[in-house]
Amino acid sequence: MAGSDMKVVIPVAGLGSRMLPATKAIPKEMLPIIDKPIIQYIVEEVISAGLSEIVFVTHASKNSIENHFDKSFELEAVLENRLKRSSLKEIKNIANLKINISSVRQSEAKGLGHAILQSREVVGNNPFVIVLPDRVINQNSSDLKKENLSNMMNIFNQEKKSIILLEKVARKDVSKYGIVRLGEYRKDKNLKLIEDIIEKPLQKKAPSNFAAVGRYIFTPDIFDYIDRDNKISKEIELSDAIKNYIKSGNGVLASFLNGECFDCGTKEGYLEAIFKTAIHHKDLGKYSRKVIKNL
Ligand code: UTP
Repeated sequence: MAGSDMKVVIPVAGLGSRMLPATKAIPKEMLPIIDKPIIQYIVEEVISAGLSEIVFVTHASKNSIENHFDKSFELEAVLENRLKRSSLKEIKNIANLKINISSVRQSEAKGLGHAILQSREVVGNNPFVIVLPDRVINQNSSDLKKENLSNMMNIFNQEKKSIILLEKVARKDVSKYGIVRLGEYRKDKNLKLIEDIIEKPLQKKAPSNFAAVGRYIFTPDIFDYIDRDNKISKEIELSDAIKNYIKSGNGVLASFLNGECFDCGTKEGYLEAIFKTAIHHKDLGKYSRKVIKNL
């Protein structure tokens, strides 16, 4: 698909407390899945969707994320001297990715809604994308150049409406996610409308078992619905903003996940990501399958 200059906001300022102690000094987005940090899989997905303007919402302690995509002269010189050609190529490729990175700060982790609000000035009065970096799509399960975020971009370009990627989850798990109520939109195009979103509902109150996966395209009006003065709960939720944005008559479309998405914000999801990535890895696939078989 054609490239787009739409901004992609990637919030990386959370505490990552479910991944402690690993995340005591390292952002969870820098934890590796085999040989690449989580954030690199995310950036690769963004590039596959024809996007290149990345805005990290970051915290002072998270410089390592921006450093990862920067040129590393010293390391390149050492690898050159030691004739480590394949490592050198890999390192140069990261710095040569066709992306522009900027960042804004969230000084305190006051919730996802609050993190997104910090990007308002940089995004301006334009539609924009949000990608949650702890949700990693299995690259072996999906054609990222056509499906998921790429497909959302195509739908957005045709319909000019906000759109959220959804995944079907087990009924017993609905209370872990933002769950949506779906309505009809255009049967001819197999498009559905999201009529409401409820954060972590009780199983008996859940309107469906479709959960937001962490890929969104919004019109800039969404910023008006983020409750910056929320005094009721400690965290300023994005779901609350989406709920009120929909209530005020802004149409939001549903897009459905192709393939599988790992929740790398939990130890279980992260472990699954490692196993399933290892068995398809270009150098380690055969070895990993042998190790797993012999367990
Ligand atoms: P999560 O709630 O899943 O992440 O936020 P967390 O808060 O880092 O993790 P736990 O719950 O303590 O284990 C989803 C995404 O939003 C970002 C996180 O970095 C994560 O990528 N986020 C969350 C922020 O940038 N700022 C926040 O205040 C909260």
